[in-house]
Amino acid sequence: MGTIIKNGTVVTASDTYKADVRIDGEVVSAIGANLPVGTGDTVVEAEGRYVFPGGIDTHTHLELPFMGTVSADDFVTGSRAAIQGGTTTFMDFVIPAKGRPLAEAVAAWHKKADGRAVADYAFHLCINDFNDAIAAEIPEVVKAGIPSFKCFMAYKGALQIDDGQMINVLKTVGQAGGLVSVHAENGDMIVALTQKYLAEGKTAPEYHWRSHPSEAEAEAVHRGLRLAKFTGQPLYIVHLSGKDGLAEVKQAMAEGIKVIAETCPQYLLLPADLYCQEGFEGAKYVMSPPLRPIDHLEKMWEGIAKGYIKTVGTDHCPFNFKGQKDMGKDSFAKIPNGIPAIGDRFNLLYTYGVAAGRITLNQFVEVTSTNAAKIFGMYPKKGSVAVGGDADLVIFDPKGEDMISAKTTYHNVDYSAFEGFRLEGRCEHILLRGRFAVRDGKYIAQQGNGKFIPRTRSGMIE
Ligand code: URP
Ligand code: ZN
Ligand code: ZN
Repeated sequence: MGTIIKNGTVVTASDTYKADVRIDGEVVSAIGANLPVGTGDTVVEAEGRYVFPGGIDTHTHLELPFMGTVSADDFVTGSRAAIQGGTTTFMDFVIPAKGRPLAEAVAAWHKKADGRAVADYAFHLCINDFNDAIAAEIPEVVKAGIPSFKCFMAYKGALQIDDGQMINVLKTVGQAGGLVSVHAENGDMIVALTQKYLAEGKTAPEYHWRSHPSEAEAEAVHRGLRLAKFTGQPLYIVHLSGKDGLAEVKQAMAEGIKVIAETCPQYLLLPADLYCQEGFEGAKYVMSPPLRPIDHLEKMWEGIAKGYIKTVGTDHCPFNFKGQKDMGKDSFAKIPNGIPAIGDRFNLLYTYGVAAGRITLNQFVEVTSTNAAKIFGMYPKKGSVAVGGDADLVIFDPKGEDMISAKTTYHNVDYSAFEGFRLEGRCEHILLRGRFAVRDGKYIAQQGNGKFIPRTRSGMIE
């Protein structure tokens, strides 16, 4: 007894074609025209619908202790929002406490996620220090199924490491078969500007943006890529936010430097004007890097369309407006950094990318799923609609309509960064390894259905 999705239009990163898709157990077992229906098979009619591979969010922070509080979505609520929004796999960042073993942090993240998540998940590990003990542990972390690491070039005094440490991380991770990613902002430039504005009594959310200029991102992207070249390693730039950093990525690619860039929906759709609203409203958008002026946004879309940006994650790191963001009422430097987005990414990219004519259907699949699976070692199990692959599928009705609102969101947070955004299309059915998580638009997943996806490799897309 299996499930057959009949008459849908299958969309992968390379092809768009009409076919039936058969699922047996957790995997796709056949794709073809007029597949026979056996006794006891479940049939899902998908005429006029797209059959997409489930989305993969490369960048989330669930239940993260950060800036004196904890991000508002845990692995239950965050994964529920993810899967309802078409993301069947997400990748969360393990952040170790300084001076403590990496294995301890990995175990803590498993404790938060295992048996609780409703979508599949993988981990990246953040390196916020470098010494012999960490060097010895990195190959162990890779063996534990986590071959991707993040370094911070910002958050001075907390997570930031220096260039010497980064060189060592790049070499050590490279030798262990992993991939290094960076939060590329110049932490020292940010500290200097933050101190200047606070000394001038400029404490409003707007000054978060003003203290994180696009040049600080461009400088760090440039330096990070030169360090990567120096060590002969590739570099993945997380949450690239603006046109100046993008210009550095393009330049590096032209020189043959191995670089992969990720952006997020907020850097494609939300302008920096949002920081300059009356009162404290701008705190809702305080994140690092910050939003950029409107002229950057179209350049970022162009970066996707032209293949300079390979993935779109969310950097989902939600904090309630009341009770968390307001910790920074008297100083923008104390507003917890991050926004909710995990449930919004897939449909926002479809609406404002595909339906708006900025990217093709196949590029949509590439940046929301396939490239992530390839870069982070989950392909072809994840990231495609292919025989033998996991049956992580989104059956998407392009005629559907919706609107984003905090009132209807599944994020566990009291506001939406994309409030009022109109959506085209609707995830009608969503399957995770052959099991319905959403059926006829209704959420039916069960806690614990998601599982950890151990990986053996990460790196450039061949
Ligand atoms: O503002 C952000 N991005 N918060 C999460 C931490 C990070 O830098 O990714
Ligand atoms: Zn970051
Ligand atoms: Zn992040």
